[in-house]
Amino acid sequence: MDRIWEFAKNAKRKIALPEASEERNLKAAGFVHKNRLSEIILVGNEDEIKQNASKFGVNISGIEIFDPQASGFLERYTETFFNLRKSKGVTLEKAKEIMLDPVYYATMMVKMKDADGMVSGAIHSTGDLLRPALQIIKTAPGISIVSSSFVMELQDKSFGDNGVILFADCAINPNPNAEELSSIALATAATAKSLCQIEPRVAMLSFSTKGSAEHELITKVREATKLAKKKSPELLIDGELQLDAAIIPDIAKLKAPGSPVAGKANVLIFPDLQSGNIGYKLVQRIAKANCIGPVSQGFAAPVNDLSRGCSVEDIINVITITALQAG
Ligand code: ACO
Repeated sequence: MDRIWEFAKNAKRKIALPEASEERNLKAAGFVHKNRLSEIILVGNEDEIKQNASKFGVNISGIEIFDPQASGFLERYTETFFNLRKSKGVTLEKAKEIMLDPVYYATMMVKMKDADGMVSGAIHSTGDLLRPALQIIKTAPGISIVSSSFVMELQDKSFGDNGVILFADCAINPNPNAEELSSIALATAATAKSLCQIEPRVAMLSFSTKGSAEHELITKVREATKLAKKKSPELLIDGELQLDAAIIPDIAKLKAPGSPVAGKANVLIFPDLQSGNIGYKLVQRIAKANCIGPVSQGFAAPVNDLSRGCSVEDIINVITITALQAG
């Protein structure tokens, strides 16, 4: 995070926060502004934001506030949203109503390059944040699916790269097919390189290691591994692997001898959202790992979600990661 904070400082990106009157968001915004980690735009009702800032003892002088009701952008944003969504039955009247929602408004700020990125999710559900971003920002050219990863900083430094392991997808895609799972693996390997500067060793997780069991759920993971290898032959990736074979060297020797990944994986790809979401929360809560994310992958511009249980520090970290992704 020190490296990411340093980068964010120099990048001077503008990050929009649409949950601006919420205590943790205000405190994070105050910290980021004071330490010049990035520029902040608070989106929401101006009076409420100012009242709450004073209630929580946060100095927000010098931070821009955009009130969707009062800003001069509403008409332009409404028209753009209407044009994007009219084929889905959205009327001009409905588009205006939607654009008054701070999350939609902040997402449109990113689309229109009035902000470089957006962070939300301390009070909204993941779906409430992602749906506007999927509708307005959409995927980057050549990318078929948006996904997410968590950077897990473990207390036990013998795992992954000095205790750092990426988990995916723990937040977005409920039940990816083999093609989608292969894309999630490649996107997470790219995040490992760009965000953590580590050389990815990707394990495609299952409840079977190299044919130890047979089931259609395992077939999906095998197929995804094959597709990912085909798309990126130089990537160190292996599957299907059980979690113990993926991260414990002695078990890897027994269950997957000769694997370039087993026993030393630093990227773990879960087969679906139930296993991914449960898996990251287990490691966060029971092993007391510091988990950073979810970091979105594949959007045309950076938009990142928070967990509703997030701390002020989590929000600061996600803001700086978003600034880094905005390049
Ligand atoms: N990548 C790219 N595009 C997508 C994706 C994706 N992963 N998912 C949906 N889309 C597209 C759809 O095709 C659609 O496009 P269109 O309207 O232009 O045709 C658009 O995005 C909106 O899709 P919807 O159908 O309205 O949205 P959907 O109901 O599919 O919801 C969502 C998408 C919100 C991501 C859903 O899959 C979801 O709720 N996922 C689980 C989120 C969650 O609850 N996570 C767990 C908690 S997170 C945590 O604990 C940190």
